[in-house]
Amino acid sequence: MSEIDLPPEAIADPRTFTDPAKLNGLLARLRKDDPMPYVEAQGYAPFWLVTRHADLMAIERDAKQFINEPRQAMLPLAYEAKAREAAGGQDTKDFMRNLILMDGDEHLAYREITQSYFTPKGLEAILGDVERLAGEFIGRMAEKNGSCDFAEIAMPFPLRVIMSMIGVPPEDEPMMMRLTQQTLSSQDPEFGAAEGGARNAMLEMYQYFQAIISDRRANPTDDLSSTVVNAKVNGEYISERDVFGYFNIIATAGHDTTSYSLTGGLLALLQNPQEMARLRADPALMPLAVEEILRWTNPVKHFVRTAVTDCEVAGKQVKAGDYLMMSYPSASFDEAVFGDPFKFRIDRKPNRHLAFGTGPHVCLGQYLARFELTAFFRELLERVEHIELDGEPRFVEGSFVGGVKYLPVRYRMR
Ligand code: HEM
Repeated sequence: MSEIDLPPEAIADPRTFTDPAKLNGLLARLRKDDPMPYVEAQGYAPFWLVTRHADLMAIERDAKQFINEPRQAMLPLAYEAKAREAAGGQDTKDFMRNLILMDGDEHLAYREITQSYFTPKGLEAILGDVERLAGEFIGRMAEKNGSCDFAEIAMPFPLRVIMSMIGVPPEDEPMMMRLTQQTLSSQDPEFGAAEGGARNAMLEMYQYFQAIISDRRANPTDDLSSTVVNAKVNGEYISERDVFGYFNIIATAGHDTTSYSLTGGLLALLQNPQEMARLRADPALMPLAVEEILRWTNPVKHFVRTAVTDCEVAGKQVKAGDYLMMSYPSASFDEAVFGDPFKFRIDRKPNRHLAFGTGPHVCLGQYLARFELTAFFRELLERVEHIELDGEPRFVEGSFVGGVKYLPVRYRMR
């Protein structure tokens, strides 16, 4: 079946995301002919698929009418049933709730707890570390004899950055990587999480973080973890469940998203050598190139909102309780906003991509991610004289978080 024939239900199929041409073809057709279809995919709760930039912005910015509770992603119902069974009938939110699933004043109060760490000013304190780590990880390419799977360089770098912010030692990082992949990319067979796997990964992470939580409670410092552990909302310490929720979201949202923009960004530069050459010739273009890489890669494929009352969106009658899937890859390629959206242009300006979402839930880590991308690509272009593809890249099978997971390259260092 060609991408032209793919039905809207294909958006729920993890395999659609292994082929960007297929995905982009489906979404482009929908934006043109049927921009907000009601999708009834077998094994999933039904949902409205929001494909246009303007509709997605309007929904995310109207956070009173379109709330985040109770669902963050459209994953198979069987996963949810298995997860509930494994938890003796408990709902996930009974033991873990995070920013993504909060709304209104509560969400603002919880976001406020760590906000100052993630502003450009707050991040100045770790910029030197980010640059040093970028140098260290690109340096690993030199040890690999001129060829490697670039994912082995790009995946662990953002992991090290965020884990050092939380206080997880390097030796525990492989475990954190596995737990994150099982949580966010649980549909990919290679990441090994069977049904209910995301839930089990969360339980394992919960146990792991207990040690850090107890330590920061006994010996508080001014680091990010101490701030979360000892945070108060409305004069009360936040609950154990919500402390864990915070650790969980920062530990999982904070790295493989960024890694997929590194692998996907390099792939885009390799497939568009004239853009790579322009960037080498004029490094001042880096901030614009980073935005284009984010637009191009969209590592978060969707989040969900739930309608509070009956309403009309994009000419469709949405009922109270209906789910709406925010398709960030679709909005970031919307022809109504981006000229020539399927051209990778490192100097695209303006570039109002929605890779980080918008409204009150806009990505907390967006400036950190930008710092990481900038430091990494700067270092790459400085140290690697020539680089080319050395085989077929492979993409994550998954409709939630993903991107290029295997990127064979051949190169010459300076
Ligand atoms: C390229 C990398 C990244 C991408 C593409 C990305 C994307 C997103 C998106 C689409 C959202 C939801 C926005 C919405 O609902 O409108 C989000 C939320 C979030 N992201 Fe990121 N993210 C990235 C990196 C990071 C990093 C490095 C952190 C580190 C802390 C992070 C932490 C979070 C958190 C905590 C939220 C929830 C915010 C809330 O609900 O208030 N993300 N991200």
